[in-house]
Amino acid sequence: MEINSIEQYHEVYQHSIADPEGFWAERAEQFIWRKPWKKVLKWNFKTPSVKWFVGGRLNITENCLDRHLATRGAQTALIWEPNDPSRKARKFTYKQLHAAVCQFANGLKALGVKKGDRICLYMPMTPELSIAVLACARLGAVHSVVFAGFSAVSLADRIKDAQAKMVITSDYNARGPKNIPVKQVVDDALAMGCDTIEKVIVHQNTGGAVQMKADRDIWWHDAIKGRRKSCKPTIVDTEDMLFILYTSGSTGKPKGVVHTQGGYMVYTDFTFRNVFQYQEGEVFWCTADVGWITGHSYIIYGPLLAGATTLMFEGIPTYPNPGRLWDVVNRHKVNIFYTAPTAIRALMAAGDQWIKGRRMPSLRVLGTVGEPINEEAWNWYNERVGKKRCPIVDTWWQTETGGIMISPLAGITPTKPCFATLPLPGVQLSLVDANGKEIHGNDVEGMLCIKYPWPSIIRTTYGDHERCRQAYFSSFKNLYFTGDGARRDADGYYRIIGRVDDVINVSGHRIGTAEVEDAINKAPGVVESAVVGYPHDIKGQGIYAYVIAAGPVQNEAAFKQLVLETVVREIGPIAKPDKIQIVPGLPKTRSGKIMRRILRKIAEGDVFNLGDTSTLLNPEVVEDIREGAVGG
Ligand code: WT7
Repeated sequence: MEINSIEQYHEVYQHSIADPEGFWAERAEQFIWRKPWKKVLKWNFKTPSVKWFVGGRLNITENCLDRHLATRGAQTALIWEPNDPSRKARKFTYKQLHAAVCQFANGLKALGVKKGDRICLYMPMTPELSIAVLACARLGAVHSVVFAGFSAVSLADRIKDAQAKMVITSDYNARGPKNIPVKQVVDDALAMGCDTIEKVIVHQNTGGAVQMKADRDIWWHDAIKGRRKSCKPTIVDTEDMLFILYTSGSTGKPKGVVHTQGGYMVYTDFTFRNVFQYQEGEVFWCTADVGWITGHSYIIYGPLLAGATTLMFEGIPTYPNPGRLWDVVNRHKVNIFYTAPTAIRALMAAGDQWIKGRRMPSLRVLGTVGEPINEEAWNWYNERVGKKRCPIVDTWWQTETGGIMISPLAGITPTKPCFATLPLPGVQLSLVDANGKEIHGNDVEGMLCIKYPWPSIIRTTYGDHERCRQAYFSSFKNLYFTGDGARRDADGYYRIIGRVDDVINVSGHRIGTAEVEDAINKAPGVVESAVVGYPHDIKGQGIYAYVIAAGPVQNEAAFKQLVLETVVREIGPIAKPDKIQIVPGLPKTRSGKIMRRILRKIAEGDVFNLGDTSTLLNPEVVEDIREGAVGG
């Protein structure tokens, strides 16, 4: 069923639109279903309610692992490349991974984990993280992975929102030259009143000292001691929750995006195999962290469903030097490499000497994800990394979409730098204007919406369905709204322009301006703040914070330092403002709303082209802000 030519893509696309249920049923049939579905799709975007493969029962890990044992039990499923390049890589065959997942699942079961329990995973990029994810799924428990760079406050918020029963963590996180005390962060979070937590499992990663709390904390190696290496999969309903993953929006605290079982399985497998044109036996490396959706769908589920060899990297692209990623490609003969534009730009800036001698003959396909890729970075990726012989797939999607939505098919769809090109089969896009009116034809621009469900569409936001409706299904009638603006060019190719809401994309990480403002406002001596994004050479967007202080600021550097420390404490280092400007006031409309348009212009350095400011409540403040703008 693989798509092998552009003509076939168009044919398959047409078929997927004409008969979506037939199309996806055919894709779903290759999997093990313990009970067949009665109806392929039931949906409405009003409530919203979307159900795929209704009535079907299955276990996704049976499809990721057991299904492959007879044919590729001895094939490598997972390669782990440690942070320290002098340490040996770890490898798991499908048989070994299956055994490890079963054994840990049995450990969890013995500790009382049952179907439907929410389990929070706060772990560095080790094989145990993937094993823990799959072990939860084995038991029908819902995993909620929290990126291990988030602060204790953020972790506590997510634990409370999900009412998690258990946290699985590690002692330390070895990232580049740093050794981050992950277990300590968990202890700090749990001291903030996470009373649903009964147990904490701690994986010994670096072996550094940690404090174990009696009756609550258990070592991973003790949890699996004596446990059997086979574990009957818990059979769940196709629409039972598989996982929660928190992501930022334009308002309030991050929301828990919920994905369910069958649809997510069918879609991640389909997109993995077709977008990358995966060939049997290939090594696939996605450099994302499992803490983000990219890691869920294309480090763990997609590749394992397809029976591929997936590589997991513990470290960072610049350690011990900016040639590290290329060394890993050569060391493990990576065929498909999937990364973020921010990493490409950082390595490009480090200089060509780090890539020159590294030939990387194994590479066949390159991918990017997370943010718009600029032409210069695209060209460098193509010429220096791919040596002009590897197609690049610029893949657009979101936490809420579960899998890739707009992308070339590697080597099949003719590419253009900066274009995600065409929708995948089953994806029905619509560009709309501010009134929700569809913009037809080509060479047009609008807000990117989707008019028909695909199997891995967000089902709800955990504990607050209305918020899901509000955020994605209320802007335009009968449409899922992505929050992105896009252009459809003369060839019908899509180019993503970026967010049209108050979300900024820093190094491919999604950060809500409201969240950062809330954090800044907690700093001592801060009255109010406004945060906007601005173009940043490496990160794509940087964070610019305008801050009103309670009184005269004696020591500006110390004041700004306090603001930074507060953001790190409340959210984590990824949300640290790049620029802070202390301002006497913020431009507001007569109804008291901050005029972000003006603040964005100033942050972009476009200080003399602010448009109409006469409707402001306090136009005089604009002059002050303009004068004090932080350049460079
Ligand atoms: C937002 C989603 C999808 C996994 C990583 C991010 C932006 C994503 C692209 C791309 C331009 C992109 C969008 C989107 N985005 N991929 N190829 N070109 N922009 O997931 O954290 O949910 O963020 O990332 O703005 O809405 P996420």
